[in-house]
Parts: sequence; C-alpha cells; structure tokens
Amino acid sequence: MTTDTTALAQPQVDPTGLGDIDVDASRVNVEDKSMINARADVNQLLPLKYGWAWEKYLAGCNNHWMPTEVSMQADLALWKSPDGLTEDERHAIKRNLGFFATSESLVANNLVLAVYRHLTNPECRQYLLRQAFEEAVHTHTFEYICESLGLDEGEMFNMYREVPSITNKAAWALQFTKDLGDPEFTTGTPESDQQFLRDLIAFYVVFEGMWFYTGFAQILSFGRRNKMVGIAEQYQYILRDESIHLNFGIDCINQIKIENPHLWTPAFQEEIRTMLTEGCELEIAYGRDVMPRGILGLNSELCDQYMRFITNRRCAQLGLEPVFAATENPFPWMSEAMDLKKEKNFFETRVIEYQNGGSLEWD
Ligand SMILES: [Fe+2]
Ligand SMILES: [Fe+2]
Repeated sequence: MTTDTTALAQPQVDPTGLGDIDVDASRVNVEDKSMINARADVNQLLPLKYGWAWEKYLAGCNNHWMPTEVSMQADLALWKSPDGLTEDERHAIKRNLGFFATSESLVANNLVLAVYRHLTNPECRQYLLRQAFEEAVHTHTFEYICESLGLDEGEMFNMYREVPSITNKAAWALQFTKDLGDPEFTTGTPESDQQFLRDLIAFYVVFEGMWFYTGFAQILSFGRRNKMVGIAEQYQYILRDESIHLNFGIDCINQIKIENPHLWTPAFQEEIRTMLTEGCELEIAYGRDVMPRGILGLNSELCDQYMRFITNRRCAQLGLEPVFAATENPFPWMSEAMDLKKEKNFFETRVIEYQNGGSLEWD
C-alpha cells in the first residue's frame, strides 16, 4: 500500500489492461467505464456502457466477406483487351489502387499501435479488434486484385513512396500515429488527451471518412458503367465496412467530447477545422494526379466539389462550423450508399443485380 497522495489520485487500475491483477478490487461499475483514462478494469466487457460500440461490432460481424468470393474474370478480360480501357482510365485505376494498397495498412497500424492502447473501454476495443481484421481483409483485396489482373506489385505497393501526392497524404497521417506510438506517450493530461483526439480525427474522419470516399466514388463510377465490375463490387463491400468505421470513429470522438468537455476548446475546434481543410487540400492534389483529364463523366473538378461537400459534412458530424461555402453533392448516388440502413439494402439488391448480369444502378 502506498501513502503517496499523487499515486492515489491516479486511476485505480492501469487503463491499458497491462497492470498487475488487483484481486482485492471491487467489481466493475458501469459509471467507472469511460472512453479514455478509465477507472474500471478494461478487460471486462460486461456491464456494457456504450451500446453503439457493441452494435457496430455485431454489424461488422454480420457483414463478413472475403475478396476471393468475387470473380475477377470480366475485369481481367477488359484489362487485357487492348481497346477495353483508355490510357487515362488505366492510369486512374492504377493510381486509385496504389493509394488503397498501402493505406489499409497505415490505418491498421494506427489502430493496433496507437488507438487500441489508449481507448480504455472494452466494448470499443471489441470493435477495434473486428475493425483490425477488416483492414486485413481490405489489404488482402488489393493483393487479390494485383494477382488477378497481373499488375506490377512493386508499382502498386510502392506508390505511397514514389508518387508524391500519395506520399503527402500518407506522411500527413503517419505523424499522428508516430506521436501516439511513442512508448512514453500516455493520456491523462489535457494536452495528451487532445493529442489522442487528433489521431482519431486524422484517421477516422480524414483518412477513412474523406480520402477513402473519393477513392470509392472513382471506382464505383467505373462499375456504374459496367467496367471493372469485380473491383467495383469489392469496393462496395469495403465502402460498407468503412462507413461503419467512420461512424464508430465519429461516435468515439463525440463521446470523448461529452465526457471531457474541457478538451473541446474554441482553439482546439479551430485546429480540427484546419486539419480537415488540410486533408481536403491533400485529396484535391491527389485527385488531379488520378485524373489529369476527365474520364467516365468524372473529372477532378467534380471530385474537388465532392471533397468540399464531404469535408463540410464531417465538420457537421463533429459539431464544427463548415470550412467551405455550402455546395451540392455532385455524386448523390454516393450519399445513398453512406446511409448504413439503405446501404445494406442496396448491397443486397446489388448482389441480385450481378446475378442477373445487370449493370449497377443506384440512383
Ligand atoms: Fe479499410
Ligand atoms: Fe477502415
């Protein structure tokens, strides 16, 4: 027993779950559970405090899929056909795949090496474990696409080092993982708790909630025109997963705000709006790289507009003022897909459409 009062003021248990087992501790009270800096044993799932986290875990498990279930025959035929796709279309597909091929790993690294340790709630951790597996499935998807189409794997998996517009996005996000991955880092002060929030916002909101969405829109535009339908189908599955990841992240951030209102200062809100603006600018630069000229009724101007629309939407989800003037969604069919309930229906419908050999129509 210690009589040191500073030690007594600390949480009674190690919030990471790696402390010694305290056999004399009282049983877990739901009120002692919290998102960060918990006073309850993080190894005890029950009693549940955050039903929204558990529901997302169940939803993720109900949406299980593997990339190898999707046939790539039609994609391979189109990719091999000399006049199946224009050079601009091939360039866009490769730049798109090249971004995703390593991005899924960056997201997984952040989850496992940065978020998991500091998110001190067992039902949230249960979801993180499910999400980490889904990120592995997504990385597997890009391996499967590379193998199926005979793409140059060195080219695909090195774009994050060799294509500056992709490097810039990866480097922007990686700084947040690095800050939290420092073995000396712990939450528990306003500054370190804000640092944890920055990481959650960088990955859940900017990376998965903004950058991935323009990537989905690009590939789903091919699918809507009956081109690269296998990749488009896989992206629909990934989109369904990612929309849950995004919504889980938004719920986490907002719950941390509710429990720790002192963190959400006007200056910090302004900083987060700047982060979202930076994320938007990085995506706009990348979009010009993917589509220097228009393809399939899609061009970088429409992607810019979509990104500004999404940025404002993410601001609203975090309770922040928008950073851009109000703008129309240029891809209303994507907004349908973002709604989880509708998305599930649309997903089930789509499977039947594929069985009938029909093209994708989501409007
Ligand atoms: Fe993913
Ligand atoms: Fe994700």
